[in-house]
Amino acid sequence: MAADRVKIFDTTLRDGEQTPGVSFHRAEKVEIARALETMGVDIIEAGFAASSNGDFKAIRAISQVVKKATVCSLARCVAADIEAASQALEAAAQKRIHVFIATSPIHMSAKLRMTPDEVYEAAVRSVTLARNLCDDVEFSLEDATRTDRDFLFRVVEGAIRAGATTINLPDTVGYAAVHEYGQMFLDVLEKVPGADAVTLSAHCHNDLGLGVATSLEGVRCGARQVECTINGLGERAGNAPMEEIVMGLRTRRNYYGCDTNINTRGLYRVSRMIANLSGIEPAPNKPVVGANAFQHQSGIHQHGILASRETYEVMKPEDLGIPQQSLALGKLSGSHALADRAHQLGYTLEGEALHNAFTRFKELADRKKEITDADVLAILREQRLTPEGSFRLFAFQIFTGNKMTSTATVTVEKDGETKTRAAWGVGPVEACFNAVDAITDMPCSLESYNIKAVTEGQDALGEVTVRVRHGGETMLGRGVSTDVLEASCLAYLNAVNRLIAHQETDEISEVQS
Ligand code: KIV
Ligand code: ZN
Repeated sequence: MAADRVKIFDTTLRDGEQTPGVSFHRAEKVEIARALETMGVDIIEAGFAASSNGDFKAIRAISQVVKKATVCSLARCVAADIEAASQALEAAAQKRIHVFIATSPIHMSAKLRMTPDEVYEAAVRSVTLARNLCDDVEFSLEDATRTDRDFLFRVVEGAIRAGATTINLPDTVGYAAVHEYGQMFLDVLEKVPGADAVTLSAHCHNDLGLGVATSLEGVRCGARQVECTINGLGERAGNAPMEEIVMGLRTRRNYYGCDTNINTRGLYRVSRMIANLSGIEPAPNKPVVGANAFQHQSGIHQHGILASRETYEVMKPEDLGIPQQSLALGKLSGSHALADRAHQLGYTLEGEALHNAFTRFKELADRKKEITDADVLAILREQRLTPEGSFRLFAFQIFTGNKMTSTATVTVEKDGETKTRAAWGVGPVEACFNAVDAITDMPCSLESYNIKAVTEGQDALGEVTVRVRHGGETMLGRGVSTDVLEASCLAYLNAVNRLIAHQETDEISEVQS
């Protein structure tokens, strides 16, 4: 049976970036967009052009490099928003303007302070304007699932008449029961003239844990586009995760009769990329890409798996591009072996980046017999976040104890020059951070500090992740070492380096634009 095509609309860079604490830099956004395009995503929502200068520039940069996928910008029903979206998308080979307005009683009265007639008129006026600027226009009725059904029909019909080519019916607050969500699509197809001539789209949030179920029910009932994010990033409980939707449709093609354009072998790699760049690790029991998704603990299950994997697995890990058990690397491994393993794990290592990662790899391999995939990932996570021309830790010495004030002397190198400062703190980590502050002249407050062992055993690497604040900006930093104080110091320096690099890129692009 020939399957119907469902378009995958990725909104990791827009709805996904609304995850508390997540902010991708422009170069990272471009890297993510390229990876999404390579994997076969049909539409990439690159941002909300009018929301900030940063979003505008990121959409413009993505439009310049992405050629196969459609690049999209969100816009409110405001002329300036729609014009900004159109300008940011100028260079895109295929572009889409995504216009939205809320249509539920609570949003219209409490948030918009508009009557239903005013909302209807704004929708029609805005879709008309967007359509004059772009052939591909999506219109979303925010909070569609809490919208009066007759009003929803009226707005959808008005938007289609005004030229919308895709109509999106979001479950903005994850409120819909599964069947209810599907019924909305069936009702629109039955009641709205022209609904069968446009693409209907599902966009579900996960507040009650139903985001994937509602999205798939939307498809069963006629949606031919699904909006989702990698790893389910998004506000509150997040958006419906792409990897689960794509694998749901693929695994149950016999039920849904639909398929996507996604090369599923790229899903694990892109999931790792987003986890690395966002600093948000999927829960171990997360379907499809979680660390336990293909682990079998009980004897009965292990026996079944050994007899035939299909006894307890409905998908094959290799179909997701999950690297199969691989040999540990050691101090005799060369840079090619490292680059090769990095590729399997979702990173591209070339030139300077390969050189730096290989130097770190060698340092660690001298102290640790076997370097596993988990260790390689920790090194890459740290390196991925290290910008050029950075402060580098040269040496440190710490005095600490339970009945004394901790003191740290830290030496940092930058551009061939070293600088040493000493400082005290309540504990050794704080003393170290205070000494770094004295060197970089960029005092930061520590918002979060996490430490974990990367692997088991006495020589396990410790990975420290910090989030620091300087002025109005927060930044993530990572460090790995067999010594946890060294890992802490590296993580803090890493965050400071990234803050500086971020400020510099913004200054440069201000001058250029
Ligand atoms: O959840 C939502 O309603 C949205 C719209 C802006 C499409 O993200
Ligand atoms: Zn949303």
